[in-house]
Amino acid sequence: MDNPEKFYITTPIYYVNARPHIGHTYTTVVCDAIARRQRMMGMDTWFLTGTDEHGQKIERSAAAAGCSPREFVDRIASEFRALWDRMKITYDDFIRTTEPRHVRGVQAMFSRLQERGYIYKGSYSGQYCVFDELYVDAVGPGVPCPECGRPTETVCEENYFFKLSAMEEPLLKYYSEHPDFIRPEARRNEVIAFVRSGLRDLSVSRTSFKWGIPVPNDPRHVIYVWLDALANYLTAIGFGSDTPADKQELERYWPADVHMIGKEIVRFHCVYWPAFLLAADLPLPRSIMAHGWLLFEENKMSKSRGNIVRSETILDTLGGDALRYFLLREIVFGQDGSFSFDALVQRFNADLANDLGNLSSRTLSMITRYFEGEVPYPSHSERTPADEAIGNLAQQTIADFHAQFEQFQFSRALETAWSLVAAVNKYIVENEPWAVAERDDKDSRARLATILYTSAEALRVVTALVHPVIPDATSRIWMQLGLGEISDLDLRSLAWGQLQLGAKLGKIEPVFPRADKSTIERMQQMEQQRSTGGVSKEATAASPDAPPGETGARPGHPATQGATPPVPAAAIENKITIDDFLKVEMRVGEVKVAEKVKGADKLLRMEVDIGSEVRQIVAGIAKAYQPEKLIGRKVVIVTNLQPRKLRGLESNGMIVAASLGDEGQPVLAGFLEDVPAGAKLK
Ligand code: MSP
Repeated sequence: MDNPEKFYITTPIYYVNARPHIGHTYTTVVCDAIARRQRMMGMDTWFLTGTDEHGQKIERSAAAAGCSPREFVDRIASEFRALWDRMKITYDDFIRTTEPRHVRGVQAMFSRLQERGYIYKGSYSGQYCVFDELYVDAVGPGVPCPECGRPTETVCEENYFFKLSAMEEPLLKYYSEHPDFIRPEARRNEVIAFVRSGLRDLSVSRTSFKWGIPVPNDPRHVIYVWLDALANYLTAIGFGSDTPADKQELERYWPADVHMIGKEIVRFHCVYWPAFLLAADLPLPRSIMAHGWLLFEENKMSKSRGNIVRSETILDTLGGDALRYFLLREIVFGQDGSFSFDALVQRFNADLANDLGNLSSRTLSMITRYFEGEVPYPSHSERTPADEAIGNLAQQTIADFHAQFEQFQFSRALETAWSLVAAVNKYIVENEPWAVAERDDKDSRARLATILYTSAEALRVVTALVHPVIPDATSRIWMQLGLGEISDLDLRSLAWGQLQLGAKLGKIEPVFPRADKSTIERMQQMEQQRSTGGVSKEATAASPDAPPGETGARPGHPATQGATPPVPAAAIENKITIDDFLKVEMRVGEVKVAEKVKGADKLLRMEVDIGSEVRQIVAGIAKAYQPEKLIGRKVVIVTNLQPRKLRGLESNGMIVAASLGDEGQPVLAGFLEDVPAGAKLK
């Protein structure tokens, strides 16, 4: 059943009672980087993520938000999806536990366990923790849950039970025969100690609420959320379906190669899940990898603590690559790590804007300047030890990076790649290509070619290696190196000396504009504004297609805050007809050029691609947006306005923005999904 050429990786499926934050993003980004790299290594890769949508917790969150569970889960699930799309997460499938394919698969799993004699009917009376969806038989009424410290509820229920006690020995045997099954080692030891201390049968159905998957032939009961949720790893690839295509898919990808999880759900994944699979006589996943927590202000970032940071804040300021790089570089995988805006900006400026950004921009701009944008031929006879050293270091970097990445040592792997970046930057400074360029003799010309070739080749190697981590910037550097689409690259054959000589460089643009102090302030402000609206309220106020907080205006701003303000009578009288509206032509534009207008501190001059043409637009947004940050951004343009002149410059169209506060601070309208320039709005 197990095909060594395939690689199946999963994230936990996230609860939809809370909106996504950077803790969820962490797991997802780690998996995405692994999946992207596996694809580049030629593996038949399948990357699954999704949302966990059943249970009392969610039923209650929906009730608190004043909507049906279905409406509630649809909204939050679409928010997760939209965020992953913005983060450039290359998931192959997104499973929702409310989908028919999952419901069918979970019921098939339940029946299979029942048929094999592992499920029986019994009853439970005692304490129940709604938050953990767990019976906590060790405590009496009024005593908080030993797991999470929240109050427990007294329940008396007839339940179906799973014979977990019978799995004690088989599990211990499995752990000992598969030392890599649970990683890291510390988690494996915890799990073994837990199982050794004795396992009691597990209640796998509930009658106290309805929002779940009915037990086959006994719909008074719904299936325990964790049995429901864990089965997603199988149901998403066809378990429970009879179609030949689904059967083939199951055969192709199961068992999973890596279940990536946070350390708080180790017991469910390393004890219950393998116990269910052993009982069902299904192969077990190859490994379960538990990472540490992202801390904010010293505590685990979580909605209940109210100390979350939302990924959108970083996406709106520094971009997805900055967050992806920070999470993999700053946090030692497996351990807890702290997040702060200061540390994020520091890493961004030091590693991305300075080190990699400088290497890329100076190498490419010198090739443009001195060799008319064509990769120069290095001299074969006149190599200095310094040139050789860079080539050797690059080869070593490729080997080390692969080994470290495969060991889940992402931070070390990136450190390795950045040592090469630092060495090449030093090499450039020491070899002073700008000075060599001034000497206009044949030898100097050959020397200049070798220096720039060596730098560009090292840049190519680093770009290829770190593409799974920072996909956006590396794709752009790759294009600028004249190499086309980076997605076509086969990482297995990456080696020193493959840069195409004579290749024409693409258009050179900076990839990481530096951030400054005001970026931190802006991020903090955005977070404050985002946290002023409660999850449930915002979730109900927003329309189903516009996930909360992503409607263009931000939570906390008048447009989305709390209840909808009453519409003044005059506004109703002034309504326009659809024909009036259709007179306004709006299109998606992509900003190609943005720069300040001399002598006008509020104005920016932009060149915006609106599909059919590139328009010059002058807009009063200079105080809110740094020009370099706008390049590449998709905006909304009113395209059929009469041109007008501002400071002598013709503005041919209007950029659409929300206007905030008394000062009318502009916030540009944009899109969550990727939309092509020129698309019409209606
Ligand atoms: N629905 C269950 C998982 C079922 S899997 C069959 C669940 N969901 S969750 O929404 O609470 O997500 C938990 C996962 O989100 C963690 O295991 C971890 O992967 C990620 N994280 C959430 N907060 C986190 C941090 N503060 N730090 C790191 N990861 C975090 O549990």
